[in-house]
Amino acid sequence: MGKTLIAPSLLAADFGNLQRDVELVNQSEADWHHLDIMDGHFVPNISYGMPVMKAIAKHATKPLDVHLMISDPDRYISTFAVLGADTLTVHYEACTHLHRTIQAIKKEGMNAGVALNPHTPVKVLKDILHDLDLVLVMSVNPGYGGQSFIENTYTKLRALKKMMEKQGVNPLVEVDGGVSSENARALVEAGANVLVAGSFVFNSKDPGGTIADLKEIAG
Ligand code: DX5
Ligand code: ZN
Repeated sequence: MGKTLIAPSLLAADFGNLQRDVELVNQSEADWHHLDIMDGHFVPNISYGMPVMKAIAKHATKPLDVHLMISDPDRYISTFAVLGADTLTVHYEACTHLHRTIQAIKKEGMNAGVALNPHTPVKVLKDILHDLDLVLVMSVNPGYGGQSFIENTYTKLRALKKMMEKQGVNPLVEVDGGVSSENARALVEAGANVLVAGSFVFNSKDPGGTIADLKEIAG
């Protein structure tokens, strides 16, 4: 069993058969359920909110990796803790007082993650990196599934790895957007250890098999 974690994104699931798709992830080799929360303000799309997350949490047996693509996420930190989030990731671009936000997430007993949009350099995390459990490097612009992977992600992953080594810290490094069996291995080699995949998994004929393939390729 490889050490790279695979986190299928339920954004690409069949919402009419959500329980079935959550159970598919339960029974697969996936490590986490990745939940994408969008508010139509921070990103130009609305995905789903608390009642749907509650339904997912009811059936999910693996840790819930919650990716908040919302403005002013501080308003909902305790709500997501109550809903059962294990890791709560906020966007750097959405937080004026990021240090305070991270401490609030940890105080609620969750792992704290920060996501970076494709245009945001990793160096902005220099003074907060040692407080983070996870860094999410967006490899597409957040808001939609099924977009094509941005190649500059590799450069960012290498820069992040360097910064982590320099500081002697070891947060998880997650990549989200356009991940497939084509780029999974290269992403791990560049420093990723959590791979999110939505459409590549759920648009395949055999999602469980696709998850197993990704796990094997990622190593
Ligand atoms: C994009 C979301 C992703 C999305 C990935 O805004 O954060 O998690 O579901 O979808 P794919 O794998 O289809 O690019
Ligand atoms: Zn996501």
